[in-house]
Amino acid sequence: MTADASLYRPPAPTPMSPTLSLLRVLAMQPRSLLSLVPKEAYTEMVTPLGYSRRGILLVNDPELTRTILTNPLEHFPKNDLMVGALEPLVGESIFVSDGAAWRRQRAMVEPAFSHMGIARAFRWMREAVDDYERHLDGVAGRGEVFSLDAAMSHLTADIICRTIFSQSLQLGTAREVFTSFAEFERSVASVDLYQLILGKPWGKVRQPDHVLAACERIRAHIDALLAPALEEGASGGDIVSDLVAARDTATGEGFTRKELIDQIGVFFLAGHETTASVMTWAFFILSQRPDYVERIRAEIDAVVGNGEVELGHVKKLEFIRDVFREALRLYPPITFIPRVAAEDTMIGRYRAKKGAMIMIAPWTTHRHHALWPNPDRFDPDRFTRDEIIPGSYMPFGLGPRICVGAAFATIESGLMLARLVRRYDFEAIAPDEVKPVARLTTRPAREIMMRVRRRGWR
Ligand code: HEM
Repeated sequence: MTADASLYRPPAPTPMSPTLSLLRVLAMQPRSLLSLVPKEAYTEMVTPLGYSRRGILLVNDPELTRTILTNPLEHFPKNDLMVGALEPLVGESIFVSDGAAWRRQRAMVEPAFSHMGIARAFRWMREAVDDYERHLDGVAGRGEVFSLDAAMSHLTADIICRTIFSQSLQLGTAREVFTSFAEFERSVASVDLYQLILGKPWGKVRQPDHVLAACERIRAHIDALLAPALEEGASGGDIVSDLVAARDTATGEGFTRKELIDQIGVFFLAGHETTASVMTWAFFILSQRPDYVERIRAEIDAVVGNGEVELGHVKKLEFIRDVFREALRLYPPITFIPRVAAEDTMIGRYRAKKGAMIMIAPWTTHRHHALWPNPDRFDPDRFTRDEIIPGSYMPFGLGPRICVGAAFATIESGLMLARLVRRYDFEAIAPDEVKPVARLTTRPAREIMMRVRRRGWR
């Protein structure tokens, strides 16, 4: 850490000229869209990325971002490359559908993520953290070094598994779902860079056979996990029960079995990879910032004392929430939110042809020099200073397609931060080697290795 902690800048790629960025990306393995972003994209409001056959515009302008993401006429549907990458896993689910199909699904899915749904889910979140602490106590006692990325993926997958199926990840089929998901995550990028640069709009996206096989395995396992809820009817008090009970208000019809598998696939994927990504960055940064760790502990002492962390406490832990928000600002798990121009259109002063890719860019918007003071510094207190320009902060997206799990993720992350920071000291091994890349979510290029120690009596 720097002598003056406030000068600490968490890791980011060094922005370069467009040509150097392209050369850098072609030379690197695995390729990351993040390194393709030229330095203008951190200072301009709209940046054309000139080297793509279909045309790509990277958008930071808060007004344009809002216009594009809230467009009621669906001029900017979901991007074909992203849809093609996810389709073998999540079919035509809420994350990838558009128009009337999406509206129907959104209305049917939303109740599972209501306040009541989250209050119910809190019990499962707490039990998953209890189990994880038991595991981590052993790791700490033995002084073992472990992968922070893998640990966070496992814990968030366990939480989502318990809240969807009332079942811990340790159990047979659920475990296999997690293993196949990890394989999918490793192999698939949300946007394939070759297709992005060379491909035609709406071209066929072909995943490698082993990725398709992993998707098939996951879908078969989800099908097996679904069976009891379908047989017993909707009484389990978990997300599957809510989805089985959900009805289309116009037709009175529920989801078909295939649709249920699609939706559950998306909850599993969107619901754990994203939170795991931001928690990995948050714990890494805290390992570099003992001053923030102390403030978090002081807040927990004041709000919770020595007892159990309850849902009501998590809602009152404001500094923890600001640490979470700031980690989401610097490392938005969905690095870019891609859309396509359905017709020829103007984006600011640039013409976008039909089929051009419009990249709403949380990564660069959140680090934009005109939108944020000291954009590269980790400064959770900025959220109490009223300096957020509407449309410049969108880790959960904006408009009608805003993340349906945002409140769920905020509570889950608050609980994880409170419980784990209270109990352990985190020490990163080789912190200077940590570099972010954009895969399915924003991740470290290589796993971050950690060691933890139990704090005193807790
Ligand atoms: C920190 C954690 C999370 C982040 C940063 C995040 C981010 C996002 C973003 C940016 C979108 C909008 C994508 C777009 O407009 O193209 C989105 C949509 C979505 N998210 Fe999340 N998400 C998180 C956690 C979750 C959780 C926990 C769940 C479910 C359990 C979830 C389920 C979904 C679903 C179903 C959608 C699609 C919504 C729609 O299109 O109507 N997410 N998320």
